Amino acid sequence: MPVTPLDQHGNLWAVMTPSSTYLIGVELDPVTGEAAVLQKYWGPRLSPEAAREAATASGGPATPWGARRHISSFSTPAEIEELLPVDGGKRWGSPSLQVSFDHARSLELHFVEAAVADEGAGAERLDIVLRDAHHPFEVVLSVRAREDTDVIERWTTVRHLTGGAPVAVGVTRLDSGSWFVPDATAYRYSGVFGAWAEEFQLQRGPLPVGELVFTSRQGITSHHANPWIMIDAGEAVEEHGEVWGVALAWSGSWRLTTTHRPEGGVSVSAGFGHDGPRWTLGPGEELVTPPVLGLYTGDGFGAASRSWHEYTRRHVLPAPDELRPVLYNSWEATDFDVTEAGQLELARRAASVGVELFVVDDGWFGERDDDTRSLGDWWPHRKRFPQGLRALMDGIHGMGMRAGLWVEPEMVNADSELYRAHPDWVLHMEHRRRDEKRQQLVLNFARDDVRDWALAWLGDLVAELDLDYLKWDMNRPFTQAGWPERGAAQDRLWIDYTRNVYEVMARLRQAHPRLRIESCSGGGGRVDLGVLRHTDEFWPSDNTDARDRQTIQHGFSQIYPPCTMSAWVTDSPNITVGRSMPLRYRFHVAMAGVLGVGGDLAAWPQAELSEAAELIEQYKSVRHVIQHGRLYRLAGTPGQERSAVQYVLDGDVVALVYNPAGNAKRGPRWLRLAGLDPDARYEVVLGGDAAETVPGRLVQGSRWHGSALMAVGIRPAAWEPVGADHRSDMVVLRRVTP
Ligand code: GLA
Repeated sequence: MPVTPLDQHGNLWAVMTPSSTYLIGVELDPVTGEAAVLQKYWGPRLSPEAAREAATASGGPATPWGARRHISSFSTPAEIEELLPVDGGKRWGSPSLQVSFDHARSLELHFVEAAVADEGAGAERLDIVLRDAHHPFEVVLSVRAREDTDVIERWTTVRHLTGGAPVAVGVTRLDSGSWFVPDATAYRYSGVFGAWAEEFQLQRGPLPVGELVFTSRQGITSHHANPWIMIDAGEAVEEHGEVWGVALAWSGSWRLTTTHRPEGGVSVSAGFGHDGPRWTLGPGEELVTPPVLGLYTGDGFGAASRSWHEYTRRHVLPAPDELRPVLYNSWEATDFDVTEAGQLELARRAASVGVELFVVDDGWFGERDDDTRSLGDWWPHRKRFPQGLRALMDGIHGMGMRAGLWVEPEMVNADSELYRAHPDWVLHMEHRRRDEKRQQLVLNFARDDVRDWALAWLGDLVAELDLDYLKWDMNRPFTQAGWPERGAAQDRLWIDYTRNVYEVMARLRQAHPRLRIESCSGGGGRVDLGVLRHTDEFWPSDNTDARDRQTIQHGFSQIYPPCTMSAWVTDSPNITVGRSMPLRYRFHVAMAGVLGVGGDLAAWPQAELSEAAELIEQYKSVRHVIQHGRLYRLAGTPGQERSAVQYVLDGDVVALVYNPAGNAKRGPRWLRLAGLDPDARYEVVLGGDAAETVPGRLVQGSRWHGSALMAVGIRPAAWEPVGADHRSDMVVLRRVTP
């Protein structure tokens, strides 16, 4: 079973996943009775007997008050091993929970009880209940493990209990949980940073002693950082080495603090919110955090990513088994110049090359001729669509495609009927400016009336136009994030806003089961495992240059699976960065996820339309492998050197190979495949660019042992060291019975 009690006193549990074990023990201070919930082990799977040994191997309790490693009165080493180190007692680290009672902080938690519940479908949950020694305040640490994933889910609930002496409870920090990374001689971190049009830049480096904070204070996940980290001992590579990963499933502000103590020892604590906001809890009120997820993997960053992907597909995505359709989006082609005739012309061309879902972007509503007005006025643009949008949507459906629309429900322009009617609906503070970004203000989605308004118009829109898809955008961070009517409780909006966004999405899907939703925030500003419970795809970046996308996709794929990664083929030269590139390379990069087209098809010559049709056809023949398969990132730095991504689903294998700098002499010519059955034989279904003859293994119909394909490799034409820049190939193999 996933959660196994290990002793008769009920204070030691082994959380078992298919290939890892996570040990939790409660230790009580013999003098004060204070409780510490400690992580005793997190690593390769142990038998229950070995786990019991591991828990006692240290030869005595490691507690914030005890001195397993007696150093001095200036330090409490075991604090870093706690599941939720609080601000209180003899602790000086960054607290995962900080609460004030009237004017005093310093929590003193005592153990109340613990219980394991069978949640069905191979999942079990452990709840450990703690209570403050004096104040009516309770903390519940929850841990969920499942039989089919190594990802462990944790979260925390805090409650202001009724019946105690009256006290004002203020929460200034409430993390979902802290994870201890076992001792190593060195530590290295991996994470992503970014900016608008440059999201998901992978960074990897030695973990300095101190506190490393990845955070967003923007009210959204943000382009600047993404809420996950991986820690290794500096030795892990794609396919080897132990990696510990932590990810937070939340789409509002967040903070992930990695502490590397001077005395050694590393922990990662993650939760919603950022410094500053204070959440008050009245008697009877509780706060539940979003889940923080932990994953141990023994086989490198590649295996870690595959585990995250599998977990996401099994336990996060609402429609994981559906193949994502090939999408067309009109944004780069038409900008705000959206008309019925123009969109229908694009739709005809899109349908003719094999597109399955046509999405009309910004510009269809209010008086939206540019980005200065009309957000909030969600009715068809009266001049452009005097009869409404029905004819356009029917036209798209009539061509055999699904139909989608861009919306930005959380926003309003000051120049809009909505804002003139409801100036109090935006985030604002008394005596403060209302700063605009992109000429827009943020609607206070924490308000139930705003939530209900959004749900109503979105529901009507989807029903009236029979929509299959919404691109849900969010184009600016919070500023002056207040809600004056709420007084002391207004900071709760930082949480309730995100929850209401989730709720609107969830209820829309419930009411319209066919509806699929894309999460966009000026590109990749809202990419996380929280919003993914209610959405199907992400728009990772407004930068559609294929070379830049390779870097972005590399960072994105560390955690998020290809079936969530929307990628469009756009025009050359690229409108954002100005780089020119062959159509084929642009396609092969976009085919690494959910293929879409975003170029101005009206301007593409017939030869390009035919090539596009052929490549889309090829993508459709292998997309089940790309979208649902296991991903292997192979060879050099994506976007800069010869590189490849490879996917395996059962016996099907697809490799996309790239050579951005065609004349580069350095770099591999043979691509060693990964993840195959060494004893099986594979037949070449598609060998890449047939126009070039390359000695090697890519002759159509030829058969090779899995072991040879992994040990020796294949030799893609695109990787030959002499030739034009931006050569690429798709190679397809299929397992055959000998
Ligand atoms: C954001 C999105 C773009 C596009 C525009 C429309 O920037 O990321 O894809 O939808 O808004 O205004």
